[in-house]
Amino acid sequence: MKIALIGYGTMGKAIEKVSLERGHKIVAVIDEKKSASWKTELKKADVAIEFTAPEAAEENIMACFDAGIPVVTGTTGWYQRFEEVKDACESAKGGLFYATNFSIGVNLFFQLNRILARIMATHPQYDGRIHEEHHNRKKDAPSGTAITLAESIIAEHPAYIRWGTPEHKLEGDLEISSLREGDIPGTHVIFYRSEVDEISIKHTAYSRQGFAEGAVVAAEFLASKRKGVYNMSDLINITQPHGL
Ligand SMILES: NC(=O)c1ccc[n+]([C@@H]2O[C@H](COP(=O)([O-])OP(=O)(O)OC[C@H]3O[C@@H](n4cnc5c(N)ncnc54)[C@H](OP(=O)(O)O)[C@@H]3O)[C@@H](O)[C@H]2O)c1
Repeated sequence: MKIALIGYGTMGKAIEKVSLERGHKIVAVIDEKKSASWKTELKKADVAIEFTAPEAAEENIMACFDAGIPVVTGTTGWYQRFEEVKDACESAKGGLFYATNFSIGVNLFFQLNRILARIMATHPQYDGRIHEEHHNRKKDAPSGTAITLAESIIAEHPAYIRWGTPEHKLEGDLEISSLREGDIPGTHVIFYRSEVDEISIKHTAYSRQGFAEGAVVAAEFLASKRKGVYNMSDLINITQPHGL
C-alpha cells in the first residue's frame, strides 16, 4: 500500500516505522512547511494518514477529499467541526477514518467506561470525574480521548449534562482535569468518589506504538473500502458482556 504521511512529528515518525515494518511504502511526507505541489503529491498514494495539529486537520482532510484519497486522521482538538467534515466526505464520495485514540486498549477502556457509567448512574452518592496526563508538547487540553470518555459518561449518567474543566465548572458538569508534563504518552483515569470510598479505572499508554499500529491497521481497512466514514468500532469487535 502506498501511504502519504501528513504530519511528520512524533506520531508521523512512529507511523512511518510501523508502515515500513508492515510492508507498505511511504510515497509522500507532508509537514507544516508544505511545498506548492503538496496536493498533487497526495495523488500518488492509496491512502493518507494525518496526525498534525488541531488548526490544521480540517484543511488537510478536505485536501484529501479533493484529491480523491481516503484519509485516516488521528489529530485531536478539531472535532467541533466534525459534522462539516463528515458532510464534505459524503458529498465528495470520499473515505474518512477518524479516532481520538487508535489503541486497542483505549478502545476496550471506552467500553469499560460506558459500562461503569451505566452502573454508577443509579448510585448518586458517587461524584464522577476524569483526569488525563500527556507530554508537554500536546497542544489541546482536555485530550480528545478524555472528551470521548466524558461524552459516554454524559450519555449514560443522569447527573452530567456536559463536561467542564476545574477552572470553569458549572452545575451538571463532569470535571476533566489535565496535566502536561515530560514525555507522558497518555494516561486517563475515571474516578467515582463518595464520602467513604472511591472507585477508579485507569488506562496508561507505555509508548506511542499502540496508536501508530492502530492507525496503520485503520489505513489498511480504509484503503480496502475507499469510500465511507468509519471509526474504531468498525475495525475492532468488542463483545458486549451479556446483560450490560
Ligand atoms: N488518535 C490517536 O491515537 C493519537 C495518538 C497520539 C497523538 N494524537 C494526536 O495527533 C496529533 C499529532 O501528534 P504528535 O504527537 O505527532 O504532534 P507533533 O509531534 O507536534 O507533530 C505534529 C506534526 O504536524 C505537522 N504540522 C503542523 N501543522 C501542519 C499542517 N498545517 N499541515 C501539515 N503538517 C502540519 C508538524 O510540522 P512541523 O514540525 O513543521 O511544525 C509536525 O510534523 C495531535 O493532535 C495529537 O493529539 C492522536
